[in-house]
Amino acid sequence: MKLYYSTASPFVRKVLVCAHEGGVAERIDLLPTKVVPSEPNRDFARVAPLMKLPALERDDGMVLFDSIVICEYLDSISKGAKLFPPGGDGRWKALRLHALADGILDAAVLTRYENNVRPAELRWKAWSDGQLVKVDQALDFLEAHVAELEGVTIGTITVACALGYLDFRYADRPWRNGRSKLAAWFEGMSKRPSFEKTVPKA
Ligand code: BEZ
Repeated sequence: MKLYYSTASPFVRKVLVCAHEGGVAERIDLLPTKVVPSEPNRDFARVAPLMKLPALERDDGMVLFDSIVICEYLDSISKGAKLFPPGGDGRWKALRLHALADGILDAAVLTRYENNVRPAELRWKAWSDGQLVKVDQALDFLEAHVAELEGVTIGTITVACALGYLDFRYADRPWRNGRSKLAAWFEGMSKRPSFEKTVPKA
């Protein structure tokens, strides 16, 4: 299989963590792919029309996107413990956590583009501030619901990827302040080999 990827993308990291946890990482070749919103990558568009990373080309040529679909596919071929609980409340808890953490990532990544890629004279501070309020509200929710961060699931993996992305790109906004339970949980999760092998790089 081929994974179109970049070392900085937290959505790619989520996929790679799932691949390592499921014991299928060795079956994936990594293809570095440049994606810049203002410079559409037409070659990549022939593979993935939305030109969003990650995209996974299976051995039969079918291309899967986006990250949650790839993660569920990898889980379906993994021989390890299931990352997507098959049913019951465990499934809804995992999917809810995934949605929350993906929302943190959407807000944090969009704000990074706004503040680093958009020309300075076009930046909209109230919009960026509003996105960061979403991030802070979601982090407070996680601190209050830390007991739900149980086991290794698509939910807990995505929460840890989101916190790792904040450390990587938002070191000037120390999310651990006032969130000691979440910080302690993240410390433990970060020690898993799947996280140690996928630390983001600029
Ligand atoms: C980043 O450089 O922060 C980034 C790169 C790819 C996707 C999302 C974020």
